[in-house]
Amino acid sequence: MTRLSINVNKFALLRNSRGTDYPNLIEICKKCILYGADGITVHPRPDERHTKFADLKDIKNLLLDNSKIEFNIEGYPSELFIKKVLEAKPNQVTLVPDPPEAITSSFGWDCKENKIFLKEVIKEFQKNNIRVSIFVSPSINTLENLEVIEPNRVELYTFDYAHNYKSKKDESIKPYKEVVNYIKKNFPIIDFNAGHDLNLENLNFFLKEITLIKEVSIGHAIIIDSINFGLENTIKKYLKIIKDINK
Ligand code: PXP
Repeated sequence: MTRLSINVNKFALLRNSRGTDYPNLIEICKKCILYGADGITVHPRPDERHTKFADLKDIKNLLLDNSKIEFNIEGYPSELFIKKVLEAKPNQVTLVPDPPEAITSSFGWDCKENKIFLKEVIKEFQKNNIRVSIFVSPSINTLENLEVIEPNRVELYTFDYAHNYKSKKDESIKPYKEVVNYIKKNFPIIDFNAGHDLNLENLNFFLKEITLIKEVSIGHAIIIDSINFGLENTIKKYLKIIKDINK
């Protein structure tokens, strides 16, 4: 069944906006776990406006007591990022080609341009028993060299799907099916994650159409839904969508 990993970056943003420890990120993670999340995702950016590198150790320590909950750290593999991820030893690292000033992740890797870089970084993480996922756009053209790069998973960047979903539902899913079919056929050992702009409205159709998604990571919409429904009800609504698909 698809796992729900909650991206807690926006809670950290709220905390940082006051320069205090309120809300406390670990308390938020504990609540997410209590309400049923299967994982915690963070995306420490170079300016640390969301999750800070110093948060990684505390989250890792919390999850040591919860072996069923996966820790996923996303980000651009700068020297600092690599060092901090190796120290934190999450279950999974998701590599994203973000420039330092990015507001949010907005494209996947060009595997042709970054073949050697990705291959070496991925090997380093895998040597340390950290599963590696790479963020990819819904375009086969960007996926050359996967046989050399050898990620364990790819995370499908779902912005395009989410933004076309309302007006052209069937069209919006097509490029994702193409990419998934291409990878399944040529690299059957690679698994799939998905994320970005997934929400209560569009998650069901995506998971129905693209089966075998191992993990969705969702942040922005969960915060907004929590304003309307509260965190507990919100998480349960997402979990119900996932569960109903697997019935
Ligand atoms: N995946 C990646 C690589 C991201 O950068 C983000 C946003 O930080 C997400 C998933 C989650 O996107 P959203 O906040 O829109 O749910």
